[in-house]
This record gives sequence, structure tokens and C-alpha cells, in this order.
Amino acid sequence: MGRLSGKVALVTGAARGQGRAHAVRLASEGADIIAFDICEGFASANYDPPTLADLEETARLVEQEGRAIVWRKLDARDYQAVKALVDDGVRELGRLDVVVANHGICHYGYAWEVTEEEWDEVISVNLTSVWKVLKAIAPVLIKQGDGGSIIVTSSVAGVRGQPFLAPYVCSKHALVGLTKTLANELGQHRVRVNTILPGAVMTPMAGFEWNGQKGEANPFGGELEKPEVAATLGPIFMNALPDKWMAPEDVANAVAFLASDESRFITGTEIAVDAGSTVR
Ligand SMILES: NC(=O)c1ccc[n+]([C@@H]2O[C@H](COP(=O)([O-])OP(=O)(O)OC[C@H]3O[C@@H](n4cnc5c(N)ncnc54)[C@H](O)[C@@H]3O)[C@@H](O)[C@H]2O)c1
Repeated sequence: MGRLSGKVALVTGAARGQGRAHAVRLASEGADIIAFDICEGFASANYDPPTLADLEETARLVEQEGRAIVWRKLDARDYQAVKALVDDGVRELGRLDVVVANHGICHYGYAWEVTEEEWDEVISVNLTSVWKVLKAIAPVLIKQGDGGSIIVTSSVAGVRGQPFLAPYVCSKHALVGLTKTLANELGQHRVRVNTILPGAVMTPMAGFEWNGQKGEANPFGGELEKPEVAATLGPIFMNALPDKWMAPEDVANAVAFLASDESRFITGTEIAVDAGSTVR
């Protein structure tokens, strides 16, 4: 019997990258899955979006683990669409126990060069639409009455002033705050709420090609390769461990732990899966 047998988990941004790894890992632990992804690009994100075929592949991989999945292409910014999927998923799969609010986008550039449109889009996706997902699922967990585990994907950028990432940093800091507030508010219902702070993960968001995962990422448009910039800003991106990059599955290990009852007294915390980049 898996650690999550009989449970149902919602995973957002599940078409590829960490979201797919979480969906497949939670399924391998015995959970049925509700999943969605927008599968479209964003004006502020200068990397390729996933396709509908990517989301279909996630569904296939979950089913390969012997678990059921209810999935849909939708935009987390559309509260009614999120709520409808959650309602349909709970009706079909019977319940909801775990929520992994994983979706997000990233924009690179100096803070003063970010356009108003880019700023608004990143905040609206990374912060406001995560709140919309949590707004849609909290009443379901409360009504169900037997607890649950919410895992919000922030970033090391959620606790550090990383350069080139101003709107991303602000949105991810805000997610840490939102998580703490919700941990306090939902504790009375035995619903736990924690944040994951991934470091550099090999996904398209970080400049890695998808599936082949090949190529060294150069996400800041070469800015960090300039000696005068590297001399001041380079150390911020250094890890304590000698490894620079992690796989999505490394983050999924922490998600699986937080989803399981092994973490039943852990709430309101941030777990950094970052090879030690936040150790200072
Ligand atoms: N890759 C990294 O180095 C890294 C580091 C720290 C944190 N993160 C965070 O991890 C999470 C997963 O990112 P990833 O690395 O797997 O990148 P990714 O781009 O491969 O995956 C993100 C997924 O979210 C989806 N998405 C974005 N906005 C959406 C919306 N409005 N509605 C529905 N789906 C939406 C995308 O389509 C994509 O499939 C993100 O929150 C990201 O900010 C990534």
C-alpha cells in the first residue's frame, strides 16, 4: 500500500516539469489525480510553453501508475474554471486530500526594465491565480472535515532578493506569506499548508530543453556572464553543495513527504530543495 492510498491530489501546472513529476510521484504513492495546465504561452515568459500533448502525456503516465486522473486544459486565472474542475474531480474521484499549487511563470530582466504589462502578468499568474486555486479548494477540504495537505511552490526567490527576477521574487515572497496565513486559518480544520522553495531545477522555465533536458541553461540572457556583473551578483546563485541543478523528481520527493501523513505535524513552514543556495 502506498503512502497516499485512497487519497486524491490536485496538481496545477501539470503538463511538464515539476508539475508532471509531482502528479506521477503522487500517483505512484497511490493517489488519484486532478490536474490542469494552461498549455499556452505568456507574453512575459521568454521560453516555449507546453503543449496539450504534454498534458496528455502526464495523464498517460499517471494512468500507467494504475491511478485515475481527471484533467483539463485551463488557466488558473479563471476562478470559475478552476472551481468547476475541482467540483468535477471531487465528484468523479470521491474526495480531495492534497493540493499542489505548482504552476507559475518567470520573467527575466532588471527591475527597471520590466514593463507594466510584464509586471502585471507575472503577479497575476504567480500570486493572484495561486490564491484563486486555494480559494477554490479550501471550502472543499473544510467541508470534507478530515484535514488535508496544501503544498505551495514558491522558490528560493521567495526568501532572497535574487537579481533579474523582480516580479517573480515579489510574487514568490508573497506566496510564503499567503502560506503562513492559510496555515493559521486552516489549522483548526487540520489542513496543513507548507511552501516548497526549489533552487535551480532543470525545466524549460530555467532554460533547459524539455524531455531531452540537455544544454546548460543561460536564463538571464548572458547578463551573468559579463565579468563585472558576475563579480557582484554571481555569488548569490551559488549553492552549498557542489551541484548546480536539480531534477523535477528531487522536488517531487519533498512534495510526496509533505503530502503524506509522515509530515502530519508540519505546517506553515518552508522546505528548501535548493542544494543549499539559501544557507547563509
Ligand atoms: N525551474 C526552476 O528553476 C524553478 C525554481 C524555483 C521555483 N520554480 C517554480 O516551480 C514551479 C514549476 O515550474 P517548472 O520549473 O516546472 O517550469 P515549467 O515552465 O516547466 O512548468 C510550469 C507549468 O505551469 C503552467 N502554468 C503557468 N501558468 C499557468 C496558468 N495560469 N494556468 C495553468 N497552468 C499554468 C505552465 O504551462 C507550465 O506547464 C513554478 O511555480 C516555478 O516558479 C521553478
